[in-house]
Amino acid sequence: MSATSLPDTMRVVVAAGAGGPEVLTTTQRALPRPDEGEALVRVIAAGVNRADLMQRAGSYPGTAAVADLGLEASGVVVAVGAGVADDLLGREVCALLPGGGYAEYVAVRAAHLAPVPAGVSAVDAAGLMEAAATVWSNLYMHHKPEPGSWLLVHGGASGIGTTAVQIASALGVRVATTVGSPDKAGFVEALGAELVIDHRRQDFAEVLLARSIRPAVVLDIVGAAYLERNLRVLDRGGRLVVIGHQSGATAPMDLEPLLKNNLTVTGSGLRMRPDHEKDQIIADLVRHVWPLYESRAIVPTTHAVLPLERASEAHVLLEQSRHRGKVLLLADLPPTTESPR
Ligand SMILES: NC(=O)c1ccc[n+]([C@@H]2O[C@H](COP(=O)([O-])OP(=O)(O)OC[C@H]3O[C@@H](n4cnc5c(N)ncnc54)[C@H](OP(=O)(O)O)[C@@H]3O)[C@@H](O)[C@H]2O)c1
Repeated sequence: MSATSLPDTMRVVVAAGAGGPEVLTTTQRALPRPDEGEALVRVIAAGVNRADLMQRAGSYPGTAAVADLGLEASGVVVAVGAGVADDLLGREVCALLPGGGYAEYVAVRAAHLAPVPAGVSAVDAAGLMEAAATVWSNLYMHHKPEPGSWLLVHGGASGIGTTAVQIASALGVRVATTVGSPDKAGFVEALGAELVIDHRRQDFAEVLLARSIRPAVVLDIVGAAYLERNLRVLDRGGRLVVIGHQSGATAPMDLEPLLKNNLTVTGSGLRMRPDHEKDQIIADLVRHVWPLYESRAIVPTTHAVLPLERASEAHVLLEQSRHRGKVLLLADLPPTTESPR
């Protein structure tokens, strides 16, 4: 292992057991060592994702362990394992993680690192990977919405939603989106959404059909409660992409719209994908999405930055859906970035 001088222990936030935000506690743990093919990152900030809330509660599908939270981070490479080039040392990076980002240090597969896009602060960079990888892989890697066609993004003010609205708008797609409060409407319009529907006051399918808007693609995080309406609004040849099921994962499905309108229903879970697929997604992000950040066609949407120790408050913020965009946990002040908001 090549490394700069490092402490023996680090602060880490763990879930002491399955439960509410109060189970999150800060403790000391030995520094991880990078295995072959891995780098050790001194974490500047970590992104908080809805999946962390499910993991903490013990309800994340396929994840037995509740303890090590944190699917993304930014930081500086301070050590590399066998097979990883030394020139990575000292680089500021964004990391996609299987867990463990709520810590001062994290070991990560080197292929799951990306440079911080030029012009993006090292703190804001903590919130890019999970949403950008999910949005890009589901909307653009295998099929692409045509410029000028409509995309419906559910939960436009979420971490995922703010990224989807911006990427698609920047690439010429017309975006309709749902939000849960009037104050979020102006926010997502400023990110490029052309039509914003308050899902607590309006039925999104009625609004779209009244305007003869038939999306070519629906990016859905709601699941069961929206399945019938998502299929009803899709244009001929349209694609429903399910990446979340906050209202439930099981719903009766009328197959007739699939036949009548030649529809496709698909979905994926980033965390469950094998490493070689994530390698490809991250390489694609750097090639296609990072230039959008660098030209400021799209921007990070950091809502709040809280110290690592206040992870439970960050979880409450997401649970109450008071945030717009990303909530981050600050592990260490970066050398060159602005002070936290
Ligand atoms: N499959 C994957 O690979 C993958 C990866 C990352 C995330 N996800 C999923 O994507 C979703 C968003 O994740 P995140 O981390 O960005 O979470 P987040 O910021 O906490 O966002 C959750 C959003 O859900 C919205 N929402 C809740 N009920 C809704 C409804 N009935 N209609 C429309 N929107 C509704 C909320 O919006 P309002 O408060 O405005 O209603 C909120 O903005 C989660 O379901 C997560 O599990 C999937």
